[in-house]
Amino acid sequence: MSLTPIAGHPGFPDHNELRQKVTTASLRERKLRREPITCLTAYDYATARVVDEAGIDMILVGDSLAQTMLGYENTLSVTMDEMLHHVRAVRRGVKNALLLADMPYGSYQVDANDAIRNATRFVKEGGAEVVKIEGGEKRADLIRRIIDAEIPVAGHIGLTPQSVNVMGGYKVQGKDLSAIEQLMRDAVALDRAGVACLYLEGIPREVAAMITAEVSTPTIGIGAGPECDGQVLVFHDILNLTFGQPAKFVRRFGDAAALITHAVQTFRAEVVSRQYPSDAESYHLPKETRAALETVLERKRTMRR
Ligand code: KIV
Repeated sequence: MSLTPIAGHPGFPDHNELRQKVTTASLRERKLRREPITCLTAYDYATARVVDEAGIDMILVGDSLAQTMLGYENTLSVTMDEMLHHVRAVRRGVKNALLLADMPYGSYQVDANDAIRNATRFVKEGGAEVVKIEGGEKRADLIRRIIDAEIPVAGHIGLTPQSVNVMGGYKVQGKDLSAIEQLMRDAVALDRAGVACLYLEGIPREVAAMITAEVSTPTIGIGAGPECDGQVLVFHDILNLTFGQPAKFVRRFGDAAALITHAVQTFRAEVVSRQYPSDAESYHLPKETRAALETVLERKRTMRR
């Protein structure tokens, strides 16, 4: 049973009422049972509800919202307050999925006390259950301190978008032997630090498979091949809402851009042609009020004559 206080959702279908709350403990059990784990990003109440009710295990309020929702060029500009605003909205829409919040650039790199304070805000003000931090073994001590503050942490290694300027672009990581060795060290260090799960982004399938076999924490891949314990994709990517050439690993499972464009164009056309709204889509006066109004109007017309 979930101990997370969440407001009731009267419209939830029955099968959802029967679903078990996903926890950091149940994720580990899933890895042991070799049952694939699903994760999607969500950034607002409506999509959070749709994703949660569809049965996705983990919902990540990713700092990718900098691009998908706010139109920034990369993830570096998004602030704690902007992230919190979205985490709170998503919290209100999630019932069963595990809710993770991405710590934005600058919220944990400068000072460990700051990092703990910011992680605490995501839990206290946003209702997040796990915070996610980018970086490998150099983050292990910080991750231990955040866990000591009773906050589960998700690691994120490989292509870490907050390091875009250091990496010199969004490039697949771990392609030579020394880079593979470093990734293995990173994964093991974070596993030992006690991460609740480990995101593996933009690394060769073979390396992700080795890491997945080596660590006890569940690995969640994005552009890291099928051997990971789970897969994550960005909500806007799977629905063609990103306005650009998608990365190699993205599969479009639907075309929301086409659906929305069609709906918006049809609305426009039907307003312009006066087909919308119809009489059935209009409110009407009660009979007695209409009759009384008619009498008043008729009297006015008579007086004007
Ligand atoms: O911000 C994000 O959406 C992420 C996932 C892609 C892992 O970090």
